[in-house]
Amino acid sequence: MTTIAVLGNGRVGGALAAALTDAGHEVAVVGRGAAARAVAGAQVVINATPGAGSLDRLAALRAQLRDKVLVDVSNATTDGPDGLPADLIYPGSSLAEHLQDALPDTRVVKTLNTMLHPVMTAPASLAQPPTAFLSGDDPGAKRVVRGLLADLGWREEWITDLGPITTARATEAAILFVPHVIRSAGLSPFAISIAR
Ligand SMILES: NC(=O)c1ccc[n+]([C@@H]2O[C@H](COP(=O)([O-])OP(=O)(O)OC[C@H]3O[C@@H](n4cnc5c(N)ncnc54)[C@H](OP(=O)(O)O)[C@@H]3O)[C@@H](O)[C@H]2O)c1
Repeated sequence: MTTIAVLGNGRVGGALAAALTDAGHEVAVVGRGAAARAVAGAQVVINATPGAGSLDRLAALRAQLRDKVLVDVSNATTDGPDGLPADLIYPGSSLAEHLQDALPDTRVVKTLNTMLHPVMTAPASLAQPPTAFLSGDDPGAKRVVRGLLADLGWREEWITDLGPITTARATEAAILFVPHVIRSAGLSPFAISIAR
């Protein structure tokens, strides 16, 4: 059992919190309200807040995030007139790298940001296996995240460890697919997947 604080009580945060609770973890979900106490009491913190404000929000929690695993599932984008993601806020870098720089005592792992939210907690629901990518500098933190992914239904062979946190710039850039896929195929759940 892991003590988990989920920041963001929206589509992603709500779904992850419910599924991780069902898997037997102790989960606190925090919306816009004060997050400090929930973060301080957690072993693992999940960032499921809008990526545009995540860096400021989490940097303000540096003391509470010390020695924790921070699972970042967010995407930092500007939105187009239709409300869909339009462009990257950190081109040539990534939100995850900025978070790791701002939080040197925290082990950041980027994952699950390359799919629509229903897939995160029901990966077996797609016609083809999806991929969950891992980016992070700390092998121990990535082992913790693999365990949580398994609890969410992710099979080992569907998880691809891309390497250090700098690899998050590749998965964050995959958001550029999303508005085009949604416009062409609608909102049915999908994930970016590596086919072999
Ligand atoms: N939706 C997807 O399919 C999907 C897939 C992959 C990654 N993501 C990423 O996951 C993150 C969450 O997405 P979502 O779809 O769950 O968004 P959402 O449904 O809009 O939920 C966002 C949550 O963050 C909270 N929030 C908004 N502004 C905040 C602020 N300034 N301070 C603190 N909390 C704030 C919201 O609170 P209120 O309810 O009070 O507004 C809400 O609880 C985003 O970074 C997104 O890019 C989403």
